[in-house]
Amino acid sequence: MATAPATDVKGQDAYTAAQAQQDAAAHHATRSFKIWRGEAGKGEFVEYKQDVVEGMVVLDAVHEIQATQANDLAVRWNCKAGKCGSCSAEINGMPKLMCMTRLSDLDASKPVTIEPMRAFPHVRDLVTDVSWNFRVKKQIKQFKPRKPDFPDGTWKMDQVDVDRVQEFRKCIECFLCQDVCHVLRDHQKHEEFIGPRFLVYAAALEMHPLDTEDRVPELRQAHGIGYCNITKCCTKVCPEHITITDNAIIPLKERVVDEFFDPLGKLVKIFSRRKRD
Ligand code: SF4
Ligand code: SF4
Ligand code: FES
Repeated sequence: MATAPATDVKGQDAYTAAQAQQDAAAHHATRSFKIWRGEAGKGEFVEYKQDVVEGMVVLDAVHEIQATQANDLAVRWNCKAGKCGSCSAEINGMPKLMCMTRLSDLDASKPVTIEPMRAFPHVRDLVTDVSWNFRVKKQIKQFKPRKPDFPDGTWKMDQVDVDRVQEFRKCIECFLCQDVCHVLRDHQKHEEFIGPRFLVYAAALEMHPLDTEDRVPELRQAHGIGYCNITKCCTKVCPEHITITDNAIIPLKERVVDEFFDPLGKLVKIFSRRKRD
């Protein structure tokens, strides 16, 4: 933003050399970036100096570096609008979308570090293999709607029930929540725990007002919901601000408790499901 012009002694606007210099500095600067370079888990940080201008996001800087200094730098992105979930990385140690992280929000006195997500196998530079997530998704029982309520094939639903699952549908599958979750990141329990993204997905199906499927036994066993100790790290990094822990995981945990540790509650559930079907 340009500095307001000063008024000189003759009453005229005077844009001084000092102000011009100040504005140029605000618009244009050289910043330092440390980008992880390497393949299959082996590599090192390489430092690049890059001219940046006001308004740039981390992905802009990575693209400039790729175009001018490191043509072989591997980076995944698609939309540059925070909607495809492809540009996930760890920026200054925090899981973030590169296209939604403004350089002006990062400490200019230190290099910006950019590294690949750690919870998934490393491919090259900033790219990881996230295909495990898509295999997990296939394991979750699909949507199974009850019979229509009316002869024209339509259903009646309460608005509150419709609204409850809308939040979960905002997920862009960036997998930043999976990356930050210590169960996957530190303990590598990929075979036993589906992770917060897929607990959100399971919650969207389980709480859907038309769904009749029962995913609770799988949530307890194959999907490993018990591994989650509600640290809420996943909620903190979600770029769509989905309240993963409070609105998805805790209600699912309550369903597991109701079904496996509360026999009376289980009977009520079976009875109400039969009535619905
Ligand atoms: S709240 Fe649960 S799922 Fe989320 S990061 Fe913590 S342990 Fe993982
Ligand atoms: S729940 Fe949020 S952090 Fe996790 S994959 Fe979806 S959008 Fe990304
Ligand atoms: S490029 Fe699509 S979310 Fe960043």
